[in-house]
Amino acid sequence: MQAIELLHQRVSSPQLEGPAPSATQLEVMYQAAARAPDHACLRPWRIIVLDKEQLVALGEVFVRANVAKNPQLTEQQKKKIAAKPLRAPMIMTIVAHLKDHPKVPEIEQLITAGCVAHAIELAAFAQGVGAMWRSGGMMFDDLVKQSLGVQANEQIIGFLYLGTAKKIRQVAAVDSSQFVSWADISSTAV
Ligand SMILES: Cc1cc2nc3c(=O)[nH]c(=O)nc-3n(C[C@H](O)[C@H](O)[C@H](O)COP(=O)(O)O)c2cc1C
Repeated sequence: MQAIELLHQRVSSPQLEGPAPSATQLEVMYQAAARAPDHACLRPWRIIVLDKEQLVALGEVFVRANVAKNPQLTEQQKKKIAAKPLRAPMIMTIVAHLKDHPKVPEIEQLITAGCVAHAIELAAFAQGVGAMWRSGGMMFDDLVKQSLGVQANEQIIGFLYLGTAKKIRQVAAVDSSQFVSWADISSTAV
């Protein structure tokens, strides 16, 4: 796939099934992640991969985390929560690993981690791997973070669901004038 075609056509795939990406496809994604823009080359991020077995365990952690907040949950609600991570055969948890740096504030490091997630999505799509970036309250839950080994100086910025797309949405070009303007500072009274 040509680079511009990839940039213009990438879509998310909410409906994913097996097989999970192969080891070769994963390595291509990791290498793409490593090329995310990164002020001072801090590499303020890391990736935690969960395969099918680990996704079942994560679902159980999600249930415990939700029960801790709402002990009244019904069995049916618990079942629905447990099934959430099973919407794909693999999840990459993208973690911002925030470092103290005199010139690189946290916001820049979080943006780098976001770029990592997008780079992985692009490298996935280019290889015919479906991806869907998901977030939600579980990203901020202490029990979930503890179960995944996420430290105090770290923040989960997304769960990348990966697998084989059941269908691929076609997208049309957008009207770029909706979000682009050219500056005209000289005519602005300051
Ligand atoms: C930081 C972030 C968090 C997101 N969280 C969710 C989510 O929890 N659930 C969801 O359906 N989409 C979520 N999305 C949006 C999807 O990943 C996807 O981008 C969106 O459905 C648009 O589809 P497209 O990527 O094909 O344009 C999130 C996107 C970003 C960037």
